[in-house]
Amino acid sequence: MAFLKRIIRLLYARAETVFDWSFGQRNSPLANLGALGWYFFWIVAGTGIYLYLFFDTGITDAYASVEYITHDQWYAAGVMRSLHRYASDALVIVVFLHILREFSLDRLRGRRFFAWLTGVPLIWFIYMCGITGYWLVWDKLAQFIAIATTEWFDTLPFFGQPIANNFLNSTTLGGRFFTLMVFMHIFAPLFMLFLMWLHIQRHAGARVNPPRPLAIGTAISLLVLSLVYPAVSQGPADLDVVPATLNLDWYYLAVYPLLDIIPGGQLWLILVVGSIFLSLLPWIPPKKSTPVAVVSLDNCNGCARCAEDCPFSAITMEPRSDGLAYNTEAVVNDSNCMSCGMCVGACPTATPFRRASAIVPGIELPDHPIAGWRERTKAASSRSGDGPRALVYACNTANATKLSEHGAQVITMPCVAMLPPAFIDFALSRDLADGVMLAGCAEGDCFYRLGDDWTNLRIAGERDPYLRKRVDRERLQLSWLPQGSTRRRQRQLADFTASLGRLPPRPPKRGSRDA
Ligand code: HEM
Ligand code: SF4
Ligand code: SF4
Repeated sequence: MAFLKRIIRLLYARAETVFDWSFGQRNSPLANLGALGWYFFWIVAGTGIYLYLFFDTGITDAYASVEYITHDQWYAAGVMRSLHRYASDALVIVVFLHILREFSLDRLRGRRFFAWLTGVPLIWFIYMCGITGYWLVWDKLAQFIAIATTEWFDTLPFFGQPIANNFLNSTTLGGRFFTLMVFMHIFAPLFMLFLMWLHIQRHAGARVNPPRPLAIGTAISLLVLSLVYPAVSQGPADLDVVPATLNLDWYYLAVYPLLDIIPGGQLWLILVVGSIFLSLLPWIPPKKSTPVAVVSLDNCNGCARCAEDCPFSAITMEPRSDGLAYNTEAVVNDSNCMSCGMCVGACPTATPFRRASAIVPGIELPDHPIAGWRERTKAASSRSGDGPRALVYACNTANATKLSEHGAQVITMPCVAMLPPAFIDFALSRDLADGVMLAGCAEGDCFYRLGDDWTNLRIAGERDPYLRKRVDRERLQLSWLPQGSTRRRQRQLADFTASLGRLPPRPPKRGSRDA
């Protein structure tokens, strides 16, 4: 499984390089697949409501009403029909890319299983919406789908009377089944919306809107496509005539040609077993449990910054339980905590400038004590060799060993947003390093979702705890690159170190008040 993930990751890394170059990291479609899924859903829902105003829900008049929509009112309802069709197709594409990407980035195992597990039924709902949608047009394609689907359902042992009998010929055709499809096409998207909401419940401030340039570019592309290739029907359904040739929408209807080669019952089995297997992926292989964040009440002043920065809504502020003179205290919900450490980076008590010999912040990851970072930051100054001394704080995905091969001191952590900004100030103001690099995932695409956002804001002085103004920004390098960009990162580090060498010498350090 790890090998498969690595291969897919490699392919994505190639594509991401091209997309990042064309769109910029933040606006890249590949970094916004979940948000694009929401965006396409809303386009489909909005255009669907408009189409419903002109759609006749009776089987005898449905086709004529869709023809009216397509041709008579081509400039409005016709465009809406095409947008409805193409946004639905685009939804399938982005969802499959989203699944593959989350899988390759391993954002599904351990306590992160929830989004994956709620995602699997979403796939079924997407298809339910798409297939019932094609049915409503009641053209030759709909006729084919109606017959193939009902025959396929008849392979299940649930129905007394074969439901395919409804579509034997024009005399057996009844409107009830059609009305059922209309209902399903309205209620399935509503239930899908509920599942989409559930899907992101463990994500604080989930990204459900693509960045504006991407949203506008996508809308324009869909509109152009709709005007150049308007969606049309394939002639009225006639149950007395078998359709000779059909244009299939492969995004939604790929399963139908399979029915020609695989018996219906076996195809059900494949899809159900496939879905169960997909649902089990978060536990294949099981992830070693990582220690969750622990609050030290003696050091917690109830400021709530950790709760505000936790990307997985794992911290709540509760009434004080220890009698100290603060109103609230931070409480970690172990089953939501992903051990990213961003809460540590947010905590005002997590500072290396504290005089205590053993610094214990209000919240901490037990396997990454910040007291150890202070010692390693101090040790960075004793590095032998010529040239500027670069100190790198890197997240685990940044392939840090390759950076230390290039002469930098590297301190790793789960996410670079775990680093309280005071450490940068500490390293530079105590002359422990000539420059500091923060190495993390691509912008807008942090493995733990919000690490680059919080780090950028803290450094810009727009979010607590912020980096003090006195820190010379020329001695700070932010390196946001996709996972696997080892060579690009090495080049960045080399350029940064060279730029440090060109800076004027720093004034000699005055008597240090060492911590
Ligand atoms: C309509 C379909 C879907 C939509 C609109 C959607 C949307 C989203 C959004 C908005 C996020 C949060 C992104 C963020 O803020 O970090 C997300 C995360 C995720 N989704 Fe989906 N998703 C869909 C289907 C699926 C499916 C089918 C799967 C897998 C079977 C899946 C797996 C995941 C995973 C693993 C995450 C990341 C969880 C984490 O970071 O811990 N999604 N999705
Ligand atoms: S380690 Fe990460 S997920 Fe856990 S409480 Fe802290 S910020 Fe939240
Ligand atoms: S950020 Fe630190 S001090 Fe503030 S509530 Fe959280 S643990 Fe307590």
